[in-house]
Amino acid sequence: MTEEALPLTDRMRGRDWLMTQDWADDEIELALDTAKQLKKEFKTGVRTLHLPHKTIFLIFFDKSTRTRNSFEAGITQLGGHGHFVDSETSQIAHGESPKDMGIILSGYGHGIAIRHDTVPGEGQTYMRDVAQWADVPVINMQCDVDHPCQTLADLMTIREEFGQDLSKLKIAVSWAFAPSYVKPMSVPQGLIMLMTRYGMNVSLAHPPEYTLMEESMRLARENAAKSGANFEVVHSMEEAFADADIVYPKSWGPEALYGDPEAAMKVAGQYRHWICDEAMMAHAKQEAIYMHCLPADRGSEVTDAVIDGPQSRVYPEAENRMHTAKALMALTM
Ligand code: CP
Repeated sequence: MTEEALPLTDRMRGRDWLMTQDWADDEIELALDTAKQLKKEFKTGVRTLHLPHKTIFLIFFDKSTRTRNSFEAGITQLGGHGHFVDSETSQIAHGESPKDMGIILSGYGHGIAIRHDTVPGEGQTYMRDVAQWADVPVINMQCDVDHPCQTLADLMTIREEFGQDLSKLKIAVSWAFAPSYVKPMSVPQGLIMLMTRYGMNVSLAHPPEYTLMEESMRLARENAAKSGANFEVVHSMEEAFADADIVYPKSWGPEALYGDPEAAMKVAGQYRHWICDEAMMAHAKQEAIYMHCLPADRGSEVTDAVIDGPQSRVYPEAENRMHTAKALMALTM
């Protein structure tokens, strides 16, 4: 039999995880330390039954590979059960309120996690409404404003690569062309808010139609001012990539056009040259790493040579989604 995991602190028990901005620096550090410990225990076969017989409800308004499976596998490894709730096949589709979802699911289990990411102005509000009525922690699995589970895993991945002190690094967060679907705005917004907090110099690039939400920009500027980081907006992927240590080019939609995917794709079609290929990577530092939250549109957002190449960290990044999801559940539930 494998050895048992060390007990975890109760300090964050009952807390919601709706935006990284809601947690203090030392609370984020606790989540990262816990994820690191759980990763080591997973790799060495240590049993981590921190949540025996506990249930988390996973409510999805959108599709998912990494988020759903990292939470389902993660809760199983913690000794509990993940219960998938599809917004289309539950009474949410008939208008059941966030208040009812919060109260009723709190009566059945120990945590609620929600993905509601494709309608600007709705997802974060819905989650805060559920959280207001729920007696159990509510976790944001991606909304219109933030994807805090993704950016926590990204921060873990960057620390694994560059060490604890990130203050001299430059990260390029750039728009890229993707024809598959209108991708949410929450990953670039989450990145500019969180990475500026850690003192990283953030260079944001996008075509003029792809401005991010003003509140995210305000928080990124405020975080950068506090940490001493530089936060700039530039007008090409090349400029953002110049001397970057980390490049994170990905697609998102124009805020006003999420309800009209055809019109959104028409706008995107003007910018097919916003692709991360080997020539683009040459603008960054030689040892720079390529990151993407996935799924990536190969041949449009990025070439195979880059995403499958030596600078890519997309698979360790995706793996860290599970270790960080486990940390958030184990600490809060
Ligand atoms: N990165 C991410 O959230 O992946 P999924 O959409 O597959 O969950």
